[in-house]
Amino acid sequence: MNQHAIEFLYLSQEDLIHAGAFDLTMAMEALERGLLKFRDGGILFPDKIVQIFNEETQDRINCLPATLLEEKICGVKWVSVFPRNPVLYGCQNLSAIIVLSEIEKGYPVCVMDGTLCSNIRVAAMGATAAKYLAREDAESIGFIGAGEQAKMHLLGMKAVRPGLKVCRVAAKYEHEEQDFIKSLQPLMPDMEFIAGGTKLEHAVRGSDIIVTATSAQAPLLKADWIKEGAFYSHIGGWEDEYKVVQMADKIVCDDWNTVKHRTQTVSRCYKDGVITDADIYANIVDIVSGAKKGRENEKEFIYFDAVGLSYIDVSIAYAMWQKALAGGFGKKLPMQENCIFEKDLTGKVKF
Ligand SMILES: NC(=O)c1ccc[n+]([C@@H]2O[C@H](COP(=O)([O-])OP(=O)(O)OC[C@H]3O[C@@H](n4cnc5c(N)ncnc54)[C@H](O)[C@@H]3O)[C@@H](O)[C@H]2O)c1
Repeated sequence: MNQHAIEFLYLSQEDLIHAGAFDLTMAMEALERGLLKFRDGGILFPDKIVQIFNEETQDRINCLPATLLEEKICGVKWVSVFPRNPVLYGCQNLSAIIVLSEIEKGYPVCVMDGTLCSNIRVAAMGATAAKYLAREDAESIGFIGAGEQAKMHLLGMKAVRPGLKVCRVAAKYEHEEQDFIKSLQPLMPDMEFIAGGTKLEHAVRGSDIIVTATSAQAPLLKADWIKEGAFYSHIGGWEDEYKVVQMADKIVCDDWNTVKHRTQTVSRCYKDGVITDADIYANIVDIVSGAKKGRENEKEFIYFDAVGLSYIDVSIAYAMWQKALAGGFGKKLPMQENCIFEKDLTGKVKF
């Protein structure tokens, strides 16, 4: 191979799945490593770049870079969010691609589907929180929202609470609840699935773990429905009434400084003066590192809110790439065979 040749591994979503990289436990390990490394200064995490094409619908494409210094890998997630896709076109809202480059010569080493990684990251974050904050004996989980994030979240929750036996789900449309059940039942034959028939209360009341993963901007989850000792993972924007935040014994975030400037329910509560910085118990890294305690008794209602940390995407993508590499999966693609002026350019240049 010419010394100026550059090639990278291309990993489609199918390649990643065949390689065994659809692995929630692996993702959670990568996530915990990433959190601790970032705390210790081992990760570069510049600001993301956001391009919004429609203020009303929030159609957007974001560019999210991060560098894992010890692994010598710089990555970027290029992610599009078009919230109306499911309604307008019957297709998914989010799609992403991830590029990983080594930082010795600075060359790309991998280009991969990023949708799987991105969705796994959201679920791995909620599941890591549940690992420390949900009751050990949790048996039931209730979902408001039945889309991509909700589906992935159930896989994550089952990984950390294998005792989960009952899953209730309610969404805006019954066909979404049925689709959720159809996708997940074959993966969890021991789980009893119950469709809420769009009645949100049916999905939540009595659940040990509650997840809201909706595209709504409304106070869907009511405080009265929440069981003592529940753990709540909040994924979307404004999804619950302020009383839910106010009744929490502990509020934990992926990163409060990021969350408080967004439009989540807790962020709104903060901006409206309903809560202050002092009401936030911890960031998840404080719990993972043992600096702060997780759940301390069976009665606490614990509220978890995450908006996403892109260095975690890169940490998980790195683990996925390593797994695919070790198993010989994916396609090596040439980027260049030699330098520009090493090629025979005769008749091929316009100037
Ligand atoms: N926190 C994070 O890190 C993170 C990451 C990615 C996506 N998200 C957010 O998660 C949310 C869900 O994403 P998705 O990809 O699963 O979306 P999706 O479009 O696949 O699913 C949205 C779900 O919300 C439900 N919904 C909407 N309005 C409702 C209402 N009034 N009552 C009941 N259910 C209602 C729909 O029925 C649907 O089941 C979005 O808000 C997205 O922006 C958060």
